[in-house]
Amino acid sequence: MDAHYLIEVGSLLLRWLHLIVGIAWIGSSFYFVWLDNTLKPPVDPALKEKGVGGELWAVHGGGFYNPQKYLVAPKNLPDDLHWFKWESYSTWITGFFLLGVLYYSQAATYMVDPAKADLSPGAAIGIGLTTLIVGWLVYDTLCRVLMRRSLLLFAALYFVFVVAVAYLLSHLLSGRAAFLHVGAMIATTMSANVFFWIIPGQKTTVAAMQRGETPDPIHGQRAKQRSVHNNYLTLPVLFCMISNHYAFTYNHPQAWLVLALILLAAVLIRHFFNLRHKGVFAWQYPAVGGLILAGVFAWLAPAPISRSTGENGQNPALTVQDIQPVLAARCTGCHSATPTLMPAAPAGVLLDTPEQIRANGPRLLTQTVQLKAMPLGNVTQMTEAERQKIADWAAGGYR
Ligand code: HEC
Repeated sequence: MDAHYLIEVGSLLLRWLHLIVGIAWIGSSFYFVWLDNTLKPPVDPALKEKGVGGELWAVHGGGFYNPQKYLVAPKNLPDDLHWFKWESYSTWITGFFLLGVLYYSQAATYMVDPAKADLSPGAAIGIGLTTLIVGWLVYDTLCRVLMRRSLLLFAALYFVFVVAVAYLLSHLLSGRAAFLHVGAMIATTMSANVFFWIIPGQKTTVAAMQRGETPDPIHGQRAKQRSVHNNYLTLPVLFCMISNHYAFTYNHPQAWLVLALILLAAVLIRHFFNLRHKGVFAWQYPAVGGLILAGVFAWLAPAPISRSTGENGQNPALTVQDIQPVLAARCTGCHSATPTLMPAAPAGVLLDTPEQIRANGPRLLTQTVQLKAMPLGNVTQMTEAERQKIADWAAGGYR
C-alpha cells in the first residue's frame, strides 16, 4: 500500500482518538476544578464526623449525585479507588504519535521553511523534540524553586519562557510547526505533571495511610499546585492545537507576539471561570481577554489588495493563461489529480485545468495573497511578484 495513503489513514485514526481521550482528560479536569470550587461545607453532623469537608448535590442524566470531599482522607480506603491518569497519558501518547505521523514523517513539507532557516528535516525534528523536553525541565525547575514563593511570579516567569520559545521556534520552523510545538511543549508538561508529581504524590499519601500513618500534606499540596497549573494551561494548549487551521495567525511576521497575546487572553478567560465557580463574577478578566483578542484580530486583518499598473498606467488584463504557469510551478505538487508532494490533493482543491483554476478563483486570492497561507510553509518558494499576478488576475474578474 502507498506510504502516503498509510500516513493519511494513520493521521485520521490518531486524530480521532486524540480528540476522544483529550475530551475525557480536559473534561474531567474541568469537572474536578468546578467541583472543588463549588463544594459547600456539609450540614449533616454525621458527614462532618466522617471527615467530610465539602459536598455537593447535582442532578445529571436523570440521577441525583452527591459527591463528598474528605478533608484529608477517609478513615478506611475503599479497595476500588479510581485513579484519573489514563485520560492524561493516552492524550499524550496519541498526541505524540499524531505529531510523528503528521510532522516528523513529513518534516520537509510541514516543519522546514527555507525562508526562515535552512534546516535538514532531521534538524527540524531534533528542534521539535528538544523543545518538548527542555519545556518540561524549565517548568519543573521553576515550580520547585518558586513553589513556596509567589504564584504570580511563577506565572510571569513561565509566561516569559513560553514566549521566548515561541519566538525562537517561529524563527526556525514553519509557522504551523512552531505554534504546534509550543502547544505540544505545554501539553507534555501537563502530562508530565500528572506522571511525575500528581500520581506519585497520591500514591505516597495512599501508601502512608495503608501503613496507618498520617500522610504528609506536602504531597497533596504539590499535586494541587500542579493540577491548578494544568487547569490554566488547557485553553492555551487547545488554541495551539487548532491554530494549524488558521494560517493568518501563524504566518504573521510577528507570529510569536500573536501567539503570546492569544495565550494571555486564554489564561485570563480561564481565570474568570475558576473564580466564577467560587461565586466571584470578575468580568474584568474576560473583558480584557476579549479586548486583547479583538485587538489581535484587528491587527492581523489582511491589507487591502493593490492592483499593479502597467507602463501606460493601465491595469494589466491577466487571464487564467497568465497565472497557470505560476500555479503549475508552485501549487500542483500538492493540488493536482496526480500530486507529488502529498497523498491526495489537500482540501480537495485541484488546480490542473483552467476550469478548476477559475472555479477556485476567490479561494486562490484569499490563500495566496491575503493570508499568504499557500503554498503551505511556502515550500515551493512562491515570490511576491507571483502573488501580485494572482491579485491582478482577481482584480480583472478571474477571466
Ligand atoms: C506542500 C503542499 C501544498 C502546496 C505546494 C500548496 N498547498 Fe494549498 N493546501 C495544502 C494543504 C495541506 C491544505 C489543507 C489546509 C491546511 O492543512 O492548512 C491546502 C489548502 C488549500 C486551499 C483550501 C484552503 C481553504 O481552507 O479553503 C487552497 C485554496 C489552496 N490550498 C491553494 C493553494 C495554492 C493556490 C497554492 C500554490 C500557490 C497551494 N495551495 C500550494 C498544501 C499545499
